[in-house]
Amino acid sequence: MIPCRGAMQSDYMHWAKYQAPVRYSLSSSEVPHFRLDSLPLAIADLDLDGASHPRFAPLRQAIAERYGVTAEMVVTANGTSMANFLAMAALIAPGDEVIFEQPAYEPMLASARFLGASVAWAERRAEEGFRLDIDQLREVTSDRTRLIALTNLHNPSSALTDEDDLRAIGAIAERCGAHVLVDEVYLDSAVPPRPTSALLGPQFVVTNSLTKVYGLSGLRCGWILAEPELAERMWRLNDLFGVNNAHQAEMLSCFAFDHLDEISAGTEKRLQSNRALFNTFIAGRGDVACMTAEHGITAFALWAGGDTQRLDTLLRTKYDTSIVPGCWFDMPDRFRVGLGGDTNMLREALGRLGAALDELK
Ligand SMILES: Cc1ncc(COP(=O)(O)O)c(C=O)c1O
Repeated sequence: MIPCRGAMQSDYMHWAKYQAPVRYSLSSSEVPHFRLDSLPLAIADLDLDGASHPRFAPLRQAIAERYGVTAEMVVTANGTSMANFLAMAALIAPGDEVIFEQPAYEPMLASARFLGASVAWAERRAEEGFRLDIDQLREVTSDRTRLIALTNLHNPSSALTDEDDLRAIGAIAERCGAHVLVDEVYLDSAVPPRPTSALLGPQFVVTNSLTKVYGLSGLRCGWILAEPELAERMWRLNDLFGVNNAHQAEMLSCFAFDHLDEISAGTEKRLQSNRALFNTFIAGRGDVACMTAEHGITAFALWAGGDTQRLDTLLRTKYDTSIVPGCWFDMPDRFRVGLGGDTNMLREALGRLGAALDELK
């Protein structure tokens, strides 16, 4: 057996990647995949000379323009996942304290633990609409705190952290010389869209990608927005990890940024229909409760029946349907539902979820 030192893997990511596929997925947190060849793209548009292009400037420029920052603030990475890891690796050393929201996205937490951080918590309570408890955050912050890590929109609940709260979190971090890492991979599905918190000051470090809201997970186009000196540290650090990104993927990502409005046309309308279907589903059930889905691609519901792994197992084995059990967020009587899929699929999936819930009554 290979000896294991602390968090050497993400158990959630392994689980999520290797579950048998189902026809009616409520576990995916992405919108449907977008076929780039439905746009006017020719193979000759890609640079296939075999060379890599360090810090590929056109992609950094495209990201900078879309989010209103300078290109020096943009570091590209393999998805938000690598962006989160790279950001944390540049910011924390073994023994440093990182404050996480609870419930948290497990791979971020596992990355911090892999880097030797000690973890403290600030709660997001369901009764408060999963708003981050800023007072508790202030209390748990110490002079060992190097980082406050959160997701906005929150995975799993899709709660929005507004600008006032973000500024308050920034001030808490500033007082102890820490940074705030905000994973914004769902933020472009806020209603209405919100600006990136990278604009709020140099203590903010933001990660994002074209995966969730744009249906382009295959490109692995992720990035970090950080003040230029810190961004430079991340580029240098990446000489240890990825060195350069796959250049053809970078070119396709530039092409995607040029066509992002076409790529996302229809997404918000579909999400609105799906959120409405889900809200109606919840209103019709006495055994499931959930805050109204207003933003984002996911919702986090409470089941009166207890451990939702039982529900997921029944859904997968009998109903060809999936959810994410709340155990992955340390809230086993909740489950996460993804609302990004095709609306007809989602309607059928919710019907099957209702049938499984009835069966377990
Ligand atoms: C909060 C959060 N960050 C990052 C990711 C991974 O994103 P990417 O595919 O860009 O690596 C996910 C995927 O579920 C996520 O929920």
